[in-house]
Amino acid sequence: MTSSTEHGPGGHSTAAPLSPDAWDARYAGAERVWSGDPNGALVALAGDLPPGTALDVGCGEGADAVWLAARGWQVTACDVSDVALDRARAAGAAAGVDVTWRRAALEDLPLPADGFDLVSVHYPALLRTPGRTAERALTAAVAPGGLLLVVHHAGVDEAAAREHGFRLADYVAHEDVVAALGPGWTVEVDEVRPRTGGGGGGAHHREDLVLLARRGR
Ligand SMILES: C[S@@+](CC[C@H](N)C(=O)[O-])C[C@H]1O[C@@H](n2cnc3c(N)ncnc32)[C@H](O)[C@@H]1O
Repeated sequence: MTSSTEHGPGGHSTAAPLSPDAWDARYAGAERVWSGDPNGALVALAGDLPPGTALDVGCGEGADAVWLAARGWQVTACDVSDVALDRARAAGAAAGVDVTWRRAALEDLPLPADGFDLVSVHYPALLRTPGRTAERALTAAVAPGGLLLVVHHAGVDEAAAREHGFRLADYVAHEDVVAALGPGWTVEVDEVRPRTGGGGGGAHHREDLVLLARRGR
């Protein structure tokens, strides 16, 4: 399960940031967009964590959320696409796991007061705004002592993005998330790693830009 940059972050040949309707159209255009496997960075970094509460942001077709739930995590997963969420629900049911699926943008999602032990975000398509709304929502969603895992594709520059029909500057980047971490945060991983696993719409991406940060208590 990886994101596609065949034609922009959602596969559309438009330079406009993708709306929820556009994401629905992207998903509706194929029987399945992503591989159905959990992302390699999540497996590598969360595989040994004790289960707790997790939020999967932009869960797509649900493979990461289902993988976490199968390991005992109490998972909430959000996405703006109903089409993707229908598939995610079906994947959860097929795996026999319970996930709280939410059709909502991260920025509009009501957060539990005590936050999540793990907030996992793979190949985000969160819009960059002057008020840094998405970054603030991400950091606010993490419980004291909890982890924020954000994975972008490595090596995508503005020229490459433009070739694929989108403006990189419209979307929250790795460095935006790093900049949003306050003094109470400890960065545990901030590096480019080979992308493991594969298949699906973003199979051509070879490297991940991985950020794992822990919120202070
Ligand atoms: C590139 S896909 C990645 C999907 C999945 N995380 C994966 O690794 O395959 C980005 C996903 O984010 C969703 N999305 C876009 N804007 C969002 C927002 N503001 N809040 C939550 N999800 C959003 C899209 O519908 C899409 O499913």
